[in-house]
Parts: sequence; C-alpha cells; structure tokens
Amino acid sequence: MGLEILKNKRGIIFGALDEHSIAWQTALKANEAGAKFVLSNTEMALRMGDVFELGKKCNAEVIAADITDMDDLEKLMKESMKKLGGKLDFILHSVGMSPNVRKNVPYTELNYEYFKKTIDVSAVSLHKVLATAMKLDALNEYGSVVALTYIGAQRQFSSYGDMSQAKAMLESIVRSFGYHYGRHKKVRVNSISQSPTITSAGKGVGGFDSFFSYSQCMSPLGNATAEDCADFCVAMFSDFTRKVTMQNIFHDGGFSSMGISDQLIGNCFKCTGDCADHEFDIKE
Ligand SMILES: NC(=O)c1ccc[n+]([C@@H]2O[C@H](COP(=O)([O-])OP(=O)(O)OC[C@H]3O[C@@H](n4cnc5c(N)ncnc54)[C@H](O)[C@@H]3O)[C@@H](O)[C@H]2O)c1
Repeated sequence: MGLEILKNKRGIIFGALDEHSIAWQTALKANEAGAKFVLSNTEMALRMGDVFELGKKCNAEVIAADITDMDDLEKLMKESMKKLGGKLDFILHSVGMSPNVRKNVPYTELNYEYFKKTIDVSAVSLHKVLATAMKLDALNEYGSVVALTYIGAQRQFSSYGDMSQAKAMLESIVRSFGYHYGRHKKVRVNSISQSPTITSAGKGVGGFDSFFSYSQCMSPLGNATAEDCADFCVAMFSDFTRKVTMQNIFHDGGFSSMGISDQLIGNCFKCTGDCADHEFDIKE
C-alpha cells in the first residue's frame, strides 16, 4: 500500500513455509512497510520450504526454532534482538498443525498423543512465545503480538477436528496473556480469525474446497486472501491500532455474521430431498 507504517519496527515472523503461507505474504508486506524482522520455522520446514529465498527478498535473517521448545525460543529471541539491534515491536504466530487432521483420524476416535501435539503446536506455543518474550523483556511498550485462528473455534466445522479445540485455547490465551502483558508492559495480544485460505495447512483439512466455496458464497465481500490477511497483520503491528488488545478479530469478508445468503440459495446449493437425510447436491 506504499505506506511505511512499520518504519523502525523490529519483529519475528513465525510460520512462512512457501509463497502461499499467510506468514510469507505478511513478511513481504511488512518489508514493504519498512519493518526489519527475523523469519523462523522448524529445521524441517527450512529444508523443505523456500524460506531462505524469502529471507533474501526481505533482507531478513532466518533462524530455526521449534515453537514448542522453550530453549529454541529463548535462543531465537536473544539472537533476533542482537541481529535487529534492539527490542522487538511485533511477533506473528502463524503456526498450526494437527496430526489427527493430517492423518484423517475420525474426531470420535482421536489419537490422544496426536491431540497433545495439536494443542502444543497450535495453542500452547503462543503461551510459550509470550512467556519467553516477557521473561526476556523482549517487546517494547505497545508491541503487538498477533496469532492466526479460524471460526472453527466457535462453531462446528465437521472436518476441522481437534483444531477446533486448539483454536479455542489459542483465543483464550490471547485474552488471558493479553491482560497480563498489557498490565505489565503495555504489550498487545490479538488473534485474527481468517477466511479459509489456500495454503499447505489449509489444504490439509478434509473437504477444504467445500469450506472455501461455502464461505466464498456466504460472505458479502468474499473470502479474504492471504495477501489481504497480510495487510491486516501489518495494520495490527502498526501504531494505528495501539489500543486494540485481547481481541479475536474476524477477517473473513463478513462470513461470521451471516446466516444464509442469496448467493448460497440461488447459486451454490440445491437441496434435493429430505434435509434430515443429508441429501444435498453441491453445485460446482
Ligand atoms: N489456511 C487457512 O485456511 C487458515 C484459516 C484460518 C487460520 N489459519 C491459520 O493460519 C496459520 C498459518 O497457516 P497457513 O494457512 O499460512 O499454512 P502454512 O502451512 O503455510 O503455515 C503453517 C506453518 O506452521 C509451521 N509449523 C508447524 N509446526 C511447527 C513447529 N513445531 N514450530 C514452528 N513452526 C511450525 C509450518 O512449518 C508452517 O510454516 C495457522 O495458525 C493456521 O491454522 C489458516
């Protein structure tokens, strides 16, 4: 958008894997907005993805860290402050993963070891990031921490599986830690509840194409893309949102306020029989 609204701001961006990632698009936009930052992902993701290429584009260091590992997080934050030349102003938590969803384990037969992993990677990791930042006093006053979430935290999306619980916990951590960090250091913590987005994590959810087209039909503005989300993240990191904290903000083209739309009635779904028997014909 051509505005350097993150000039002189320093940050860490977790979760860029490839050009489809929300974190990838956010890195590009944050760079355009004048920010300096470090990119972080797991060793494995750094081997498999194109993160170093993004690092070159944004003039950003890439540092490996498992977001569930407190030692990794401490090293990452200390090294980031050293490389960037001071305390941080923003952190993007754009990380999520469920082994149950990935392996198509039915919700009513969850593998509980996998479930723990889902919760640790997708929710508790936000607590760990915030606790590490607080311990190291790594964030400046009015610093902004943003985590990505999905409306499956509040409503039932049948194939979202145990990610629903993970996102509900993530949003709860946003409120609880947001209170404490706000009181202690005036640091802001928010989550953005994003539309279905065609990314590696998104496509891992069963029936993703239907999620995508359903919300596209339902939302007056249509689905928000990864690029749209990146613009919103930049706004949330900036000083224009200094008093926004402890919020879960829907960034979904209006989907979360809808019941049914003319588009859905007229174009997308045709009920072909007794609804109780789940006889729906979903048009292309
Ligand atoms: N794609 C969607 O439809 C959608 C919708 C709403 C919210 N979200 C959320 O957006 C965030 C980003 O996902 P995305 O859609 O850009 O997909 P993505 O697959 O590009 O990003 C997920 C990232 O999490 C990283 N990750 C997984 N385990 C990790 C660990 N232990 N330590 C550090 N990093 C780890 C992956 O390497 C990957 O880079 C996630 O929280 C996701 O749940 C996605």
